[in-house]
Amino acid sequence: MLTADDKKLILQIWEKVLGHQEDFGAEALERMFATYPQTKTYFPHFDLQHGSAQVKGHGKKVAAALVEAANHIDDIAGALSKLSDLHAQKLRVDPVNFKLLGQCFLVVVAIHHPSVLTPEVHASLDKFLCAVGNVLTAKYR
Ligand code: HEM
Repeated sequence: MLTADDKKLILQIWEKVLGHQEDFGAEALERMFATYPQTKTYFPHFDLQHGSAQVKGHGKKVAAALVEAANHIDDIAGALSKLSDLHAQKLRVDPVNFKLLGQCFLVVVAIHHPSVLTPEVHASLDKFLCAVGNVLTAKYR
């Protein structure tokens, strides 16, 4: 459950991320594929090499969805409803993978904005990314 303080901190961090979100999305994906190679099995149709246009394009889509969620922080489920259908019914991504991508995204934010990612901001951003993952896997059940 995101508290009022979490929401305030999340909106603050998104102000820093906006403008770079496409690069951050692609960097998070690249880290996920490198660090947790099992995640590559969902992307057999992608070129996953460094600098791949497909990974960049996909990073842009993932980042746009995160921005959408941050802009509708009181109704993430409503904002990502179609994406939730897609991941649950068509893509069938194992829920464990959402935590992995969330961790990679946090690392990317930490690298680019080390001073902004205080322990409090880290905790709130982690809660937000978990909330997004929960929404994207909610329709599995
Ligand atoms: C597609 C967002 C996590 C696998 C997508 C799309 C978006 C998205 C926006 C494009 C949908 C479209 O084209 O209409 C997210 C977000 C995530 C997340 C916000 C969590 C923060 C994951 C994870 C995996 C995954 C963890 C697997 C490891 C896929 C695959 C596609 C896809 C295979 C289809 C790619 C294609 O063929 O173009 N996701 N996703 N997603 N996602 Fe996710």
